[in-house]
Amino acid sequence: MVADAIVALIAPRPKRLLARLPMINLHDIRYIRLGSRDIEGATRYATSILGLQVAQQAGNPKHGKSVYFRSDARDHTLVYFDGDPRDHTVGFSVDSVAELDSAAANLDAERIPFTRGTQEQCEARRVEAFINFRDPTGNAIDLCVWPHHSGTRYFPTRDAGITGFSHIGLRTTDAKRDERFWTTVLSAKVSDRIGPAPLLRIDEVHHKIALFPSTFAGVQHINHQVAEVDDIMRSWYFLKEKGIRIVFGPGRHPTSGARFLYFEGPDGMVYEYSCGVRMVTDPEEMPRQFPFTAESFCMWGAKPDIPEFKT
Ligand SMILES: [Fe+2]
Repeated sequence: MVADAIVALIAPRPKRLLARLPMINLHDIRYIRLGSRDIEGATRYATSILGLQVAQQAGNPKHGKSVYFRSDARDHTLVYFDGDPRDHTVGFSVDSVAELDSAAANLDAERIPFTRGTQEQCEARRVEAFINFRDPTGNAIDLCVWPHHSGTRYFPTRDAGITGFSHIGLRTTDAKRDERFWTTVLSAKVSDRIGPAPLLRIDEVHHKIALFPSTFAGVQHINHQVAEVDDIMRSWYFLKEKGIRIVFGPGRHPTSGARFLYFEGPDGMVYEYSCGVRMVTDPEEMPRQFPFTAESFCMWGAKPDIPEFKT
């Protein structure tokens, strides 16, 4: 008996000891935080090129400067902070404090280390509470509750037609492993795949996250929705005139049906405008497999100049 008890104590716990815990239910993608060594340059780009609105500039001697940007009715959806340009964090909201506690229990059961945000960090993120962890590739993820909305209307710096921050491309060093993580530990569902790259939804929008094979962690592209195709074409001319490198498009994704334009931002970040993304209203809809070819990324014939999209 004693020997059995000792064996039970020292034996490794099964990987999913609490396998019946519900998945961590991601309510929405909320914000991106990006390090920058040139906050002034990043701010100039985010306002005069991308068309975002500065929500607030904050700073202290300990953490340096942060600039918060709005793209819709939310308090902010993008932050450039004084730090390493490879330091990226993606914020997702969950529905309640109870859901956040349950998410912490899930991560614990999965043996995934996480930290709880301090009061100072919560204030910096404009949230009530959050926990931070990394996916298997090493992408930093925040789960937050009660992120702030804004009482004032989004008033863009330039009329790019932006209606809101919508999705990200995220790097993965093992797409199958990370798809499993995002769809079993987290609540994402596969809408379609292009080669090994899954396009993942967390609500009816065709995708809010897409995992693209890479050799390192980080955000691969940041999408803002615009109102209509006219906005995409206006920006295409505008960006070319400003000398901004267009890296893909104008084009149309056969997966989501969205019309798109991808272009280069500070520190090599790729930004995207798109419109007309398909809603997946049938929860039983099966993902389609597209080959990893240029035609799977654009049905109009545009060729990507983005390493992660190239075959
Ligand atoms: Fe995209």
